[in-house]
Amino acid sequence: VTIYIPRDAAALALGADDVARAMAEQLGARGLSAKIVRNGSRGLHWLEPLVEVDVGGARLAYGPVAASDVPSLLDAGLLEGATHPLSLGATEAIPFLARQTRLTFARCGVIDPLSLDDYRNHGGLRGLENAVAMSPAAVVAQVTESGLRGRGGAGFPTGIKWNTVAGAAADRKYIVCNADEGDSATFADRMIMEGDPFVLIEGMTIAGLAVGATKGHIYTRSEYPHAVATMRAAVELARRAGILGPSVLGSGRAFDIEVRMGAGAYVCGEETSLLNSLEGKRGVVRAKPPLPALHGLFGKPTVVNNVISLASVPVILDRGAAHYKNFGMGRSRGTIPIQIAGNARYTGLFEVGFGLTLGEIVEDIAGGTASGRPVKAVQVGGPLGAYFPPALFDTPFDYEAFAAKGGLIGHAGITVFDDSADMLKMARFAMEFCAIESCGKCTPCRIGSTRGVETLDKVARGIDREKNLELVADLCNTMKFGSLCALGGFTPYPVMSAISHFQDDFAPRPAAIA
Ligand code: NAI
Ligand code: SF4
Repeated sequence: VTIYIPRDAAALALGADDVARAMAEQLGARGLSAKIVRNGSRGLHWLEPLVEVDVGGARLAYGPVAASDVPSLLDAGLLEGATHPLSLGATEAIPFLARQTRLTFARCGVIDPLSLDDYRNHGGLRGLENAVAMSPAAVVAQVTESGLRGRGGAGFPTGIKWNTVAGAAADRKYIVCNADEGDSATFADRMIMEGDPFVLIEGMTIAGLAVGATKGHIYTRSEYPHAVATMRAAVELARRAGILGPSVLGSGRAFDIEVRMGAGAYVCGEETSLLNSLEGKRGVVRAKPPLPALHGLFGKPTVVNNVISLASVPVILDRGAAHYKNFGMGRSRGTIPIQIAGNARYTGLFEVGFGLTLGEIVEDIAGGTASGRPVKAVQVGGPLGAYFPPALFDTPFDYEAFAAKGGLIGHAGITVFDDSADMLKMARFAMEFCAIESCGKCTPCRIGSTRGVETLDKVARGIDREKNLELVADLCNTMKFGSLCALGGFTPYPVMSAISHFQDDFAPRPAAIA
C-alpha cells in the first residue's frame, strides 16, 4: 500500500510534514507496513494537506488531514481505503479535478516528483525522445503549429520566439526559464517545479535542441526554497541519467541546466531585468529593442520563456501539435492553468482549455466567495490586471476577449473580492505597489506612481475630487504610453478599471463631506 502526503509548499504551510511524521510514527507503532510517498500537490488548496492512499491501483483521497487525524484514519482502516469523516472518495472523481483537462499538470500531485521511473511510467520523456529524432526546424514547426503562446502573461507565440533564436547566428545561445513568479494569486510555476520538475527539464532541453542552445538557466526567487531544492535535485538526477549533459539521450548534442535564485524583486520577472540579475547586475530593465531573442543573456541570442510555456512543450512533442491545438478558442489554443485565490470558496489550480467565461470560473468552479457574501470584483492577471465586475462575467477566458474588455489574462491568476472590498483602496494599492517595486529607470513609473498615491489620497479625503480624478486619469495615460516596461505600463489597468467599474467607491464619503 502506498500513502501519498504532499511536499508542496502550500501543503507544507498547512502542516503536511507533521502529518507525514505522525503517519510514519503510527505505522511503526502499529506494526503496519505502507510506503509513504511525498508527492506534489493536486492543486485543491482548500483540501490540503490532501492525503491519498493507493489501494489496488485506485487512489482514494482524504482531507484536509491534520496530524491529530492520523490515529483515527488508521483505526478506521486507511490502508484498506475505508471510509472516514475526512473521506473524499476517488481522487480523480472530485468534481474540481474531474472537470479539468490536465495536459501540462497531468503528473503533478500524481507521481513522486523525484522519481524518474515514475516520470517515465506516466508518459515522461516521450516528447524529448521524439524531439531528438527530429530536425531542430521540425521541432520549432511543431511548437508553432500547436499555437502555444507565452504563459508568463504576454501571450507571444512561443514558436515564433524560438524561430527568431534558431535563426540567429552565434557561438553560444541560451534558454532562460522565467520562474520568478511574482503575480498575486499565482502559484502554477511553483507547483510544477515542486510537483513535476522533470517536465520543466524536458521542455527546456527540447527548446535547447530546437534553437541550438547548450545551456539553460532557471531563474526563480528566494521565496521559493522548496522549488529550488526540488529543481536542483531533479537536475542532478537528470544529469546522472544522461538526460542532461554532453550527449542528451545519447544524441551527441549537449544541454545542461543551472538553477539560480533571485532576491525576490517583482521587476526581476520582467525579462530584461531578469537577464541583468542573472548576469550579476542590478535588476534594472533594459530598453527593447534589441530583443532578448537576438541579444539576451551575456549578449547572446536567448529564449526567455515562462515555466508553464516550457512545461507545455513535452506534451506537444509527445502527442502532436494537432492534439494540443484542439483545445481552446480563437487564437488562444491549448490549456491554461487558472489559479484561483483570494476570497473564493474553492481555491487552487484548474487547468482547462481556454474559453470558459469568467462567471463560470468564479461562480461555478470557485464556488463564489469563501465569506458567502456577493462577489464584487475579480482581479485577473496579477497586481497589474484589471478589476472585473460581475457585469463582465460573460467574458471568455481568452487573450483577445480580455484585451477587448480592457483587461488581461496575464499569468492566469484570479483574485476574488466580496462586497466589503473598497475599490478606491485597491486603486491606491496598485499605485503604491508600483512605487515600491519600480526599478526607477523611467520617470512615468518612478515618479508617476508616487504622485498617483498622493492624488488618490486626496480623492479619498474629498479634496477637489473631480479635478483629482481627472489628474489620475491623465497620469495613467502617461504611465500607460510612456513607461519602458509592463510594471509602469500596466499599473493603469487596475487603477482605471476600479474607477470606471466601481464609481460609487470614488464618490464623496460621509467623513469627507463632514
Ligand atoms: P512583450 O509583449 O514586450 O513581449 C512578449 C515576449 O515576446 C517577450 O519575451 C519579447 O522579448 C518577445 N518578442 C516580441 N517580439 C518578438 C519577436 N519578433 N521575436 C522574438 N521574440 C519576440 O511583453 P513583456 O513585457 O515581456 O511581458 C508583459 C506581460 O508580463 C504582461 O502581459 C503581464 O501579464 C506579464 N507579467 C507576468 C508576471 C508573472 O509573474 N508571470 C508578472 C508581471 C507581469
Ligand atoms: Fe523600471 Fe517602472 Fe520604467 Fe519598468 S516602467 S523600466 S519598472 S521605472
